[in-house]
Amino acid sequence: MRVLITGASGQLGHDLLAAFAGDEVVGLTRADLDVASEPAVVAAVRDHAPELVVHAAAYTRVDACESDCHEAWRVNALGSWWVARACALAGAAMVYVSTDYVFDGLAGRPYTEFDRTNPQSMYGRSKEAGEQLVRQALPEHYIVRTSWLQGVHGANFVKTMLRLGRERGALSVVDDQTGCPTFASELAPAIRRLAVTGRHGTYHVTNSGHCTWFELARAVFDEAGLAVELAPTDTASYAAPAPRPAFSVLDNLLTGLIGLEPLPEWQFSLKRLVSELGDG
Ligand SMILES: NC(=O)c1ccc[n+]([C@@H]2O[C@H](COP(=O)([O-])OP(=O)(O)OC[C@H]3O[C@@H](n4cnc5c(N)ncnc54)[C@H](OP(=O)(O)O)[C@@H]3O)[C@@H](O)[C@H]2O)c1
Repeated sequence: MRVLITGASGQLGHDLLAAFAGDEVVGLTRADLDVASEPAVVAAVRDHAPELVVHAAAYTRVDACESDCHEAWRVNALGSWWVARACALAGAAMVYVSTDYVFDGLAGRPYTEFDRTNPQSMYGRSKEAGEQLVRQALPEHYIVRTSWLQGVHGANFVKTMLRLGRERGALSVVDDQTGCPTFASELAPAIRRLAVTGRHGTYHVTNSGHCTWFELARAVFDEAGLAVELAPTDTASYAAPAPRPAFSVLDNLLTGLIGLEPLPEWQFSLKRLVSELGDG
C-alpha cells in the first residue's frame, strides 16, 4: 500500500512511520508540507499518489490555541479540509486523527462514537471542525479519536513527569480530570489495522482502562522507581487557559463491533514506555 503521512516528525508521526514501514511509505514534516496551504497539499498528494493519507499534522498546543485561535482554525480545520479534498481528487482514503477534547466531559461515563460532541476549548472546536470538513469532503475517511497521547518522541505528560520528578522531588498534579492514556506505539499499528478494513467511519481508539492525571503520575513514578512526593490538586487551582473535559474516557465501541482487538490496559503500555525511555 502506498501511504503518505503528514506531521511525520510529531509524536504520533514517528510511530506511524514505524507502523507503516512494511508499506511504501512517505512521511512529510511541516518543513516539507504546510498542510494549511491548499496548492501545496494538492501537489503533494498528486505527486506521491498514495492510496492512504494518514493526517497526523495538527496544531496541538491546547493552551496556545486559546490565544492563537486563527492558527488553530487554519491548521486543524482548514488544513484537514485541504488534505481531504486532495484525497478526493487523487482517489485516496484518509485517516484524520482527532481527540477526546471534542466532548465536554460532563456525561460522567465513557463516550461512544454515537455521542454528541460539544467541544469547550478552541483546540477541541478546531479539531471538531476538521472532523466535519473531512466527513463532507471525503466519504473514504477514518476519523480516529484518541486521548492523552504518550510516546518516545515529542513532548508528553509521561516525559514531563519523569523530568520534573527528578528535578523537584515534589509535585502537585490534577486529580479531577479522568481520561485514558494512549500510547503512540499502540495507536499507530491500530490505525494501520483499521485503515485496511475499508470500513470508513468515525472510531474511538485508545488504550484500555482509565485514570486521572494524578494516578498516571503516581504510576509513572512507581514504574521508574522515583521517590516523588505527589499531592493531588484540582483543575481550578491549576488555572490553565484552555478548559479541559473532566471525564473524557472514550468507549472503543465501534472497533469492537467490527471485530478489532482492544488495545492493552494503559498500565501495560506505560511500563514499556518507561523502560524504552531508559527509566524502568
Ligand atoms: N497529544 C495528545 O495528547 C493528543 C490527544 C488526542 C489527539 N491528538 C491528535 O493526534 C495527532 C498527533 O498528535 P501528536 O501528539 O503527535 O502531536 P505533535 O507531536 O504536536 O505532532 C503534530 C505535528 O504536526 C506538525 N504541524 C503543525 N502545524 C503544521 C502545519 N501547518 N503543516 C504541517 N505540519 C504541521 C507539527 O510540526 P511542529 O512540531 O514543527 O509544529 C508536529 O510535527 C494530532 O492530530 C492531535 O490533534 C493528540
